[in-house]
Amino acid sequence: MNIQIAGTGRHLPEDVLTNADLEKMVATSNQWIVERTGIHERRIAGKGVCASDLAAPAAQQALAAAGIKPEEVDLIIVGTSTPDMYFPSTACFVQAKIGAVNAVAFDVLAACSGFIYGLSMAENFLKGGKFKTALVIGAEVYSSIINWEDRTTCVLFGDGAGAVVLRAGEGTPGILSTHIFSDGTKAGDLYTPGGGSVNRFTPELVTMKKYALTMKGNSTFKVAVKSMADAARIALEKNGVSASDLKMVVPHQANQRIISAVAKQLGLDESLFYSNLERYGNTAAASIPIALDEVVREGKAVKGDLILMVTFGGGFTWGSALIRL
Ligand SMILES: CC(C)(COP(=O)(O)OP(=O)(O)OC[C@H]1O[C@@H](n2cnc3c(N)ncnc32)[C@H](O)[C@@H]1OP(=O)(O)O)[C@@H](O)C(=O)NCCC(=O)NCCS
Repeated sequence: MNIQIAGTGRHLPEDVLTNADLEKMVATSNQWIVERTGIHERRIAGKGVCASDLAAPAAQQALAAAGIKPEEVDLIIVGTSTPDMYFPSTACFVQAKIGAVNAVAFDVLAACSGFIYGLSMAENFLKGGKFKTALVIGAEVYSSIINWEDRTTCVLFGDGAGAVVLRAGEGTPGILSTHIFSDGTKAGDLYTPGGGSVNRFTPELVTMKKYALTMKGNSTFKVAVKSMADAARIALEKNGVSASDLKMVVPHQANQRIISAVAKQLGLDESLFYSNLERYGNTAAASIPIALDEVVREGKAVKGDLILMVTFGGGFTWGSALIRL
């Protein structure tokens, strides 16, 4: 039993927030943001637009590319840390919006690693033979958990969604392997302190913006580089593949300096690494499937090409997936 990538899709909100816009909101500059992150602009979901509103069109695009009807989908996994609600899951809202009436639907919470975690779970469900067709989606509205007065975080993130359709069958393997990891001892380096059962919603919590994400940027940066490089090495080693066999690496889009440092640690040319950070910033769990869809639709990689995806996120969580289109 092999698993093919049958289709990809993405959906970005239309509203653009540029570095120049941010200069008017906090003490920052276009030069600082570009030099430290590589980000020029990001997309922001309008009021009332939730994660499933972005996920559903991305999923429909992926299904259309795969030539698969919504009723044929057996499994929907949405990686998100900005769900529509605590419950039901965002995946259930997506199921209803796209009419995937026969699917089992649930979310996976692994922050920016949510898509690779979802891909790994879907891989195992499909290999187990229980399901044939899966939709794996990364969808985020990080603008809803940003403190727009905190210059150290508000310049980094954006909203969006990306999706892939996986199909189990007899063809050549599409997912060669997935590897996922966690380290809960570093939870306090990147998290949203309030709104859960620890710090419950109170007027004070909202006034103090404790619902917003907080990050120790420097330490997160260092761990992200090492973890992504490790996850990349494991994927190559387990498959007996060398970097020269890769068409490209599609990394989580957090910071261009992280991508450069990962490339350096692996001894690879940075040009092998796809980046759309300039246009979208960090869209958390959505960043890899958005990037993958761009790569596919723009013909930057074609059927048969090997692509390595590597991720890192709050938790900490990290991982990799080696795929053949
Ligand atoms: C957040 C990040 C871009 C900050 O870059 P950095 O080079 O580490 O910058 P520092 O945090 O050391 O801050 C340097 C200075 O810039 C200032 N600064 C921070 N944000 C700023 C902004 N938006 N504009 C202007 N100055 C800013 C800091 O206050 C600090 O000033 P100080 O030296 O006077 O104290 C970087 O640490 C990073 O990308 N971290 C990891 C992010 C990540 O991967 N997150 C998600 C994982 S999924």
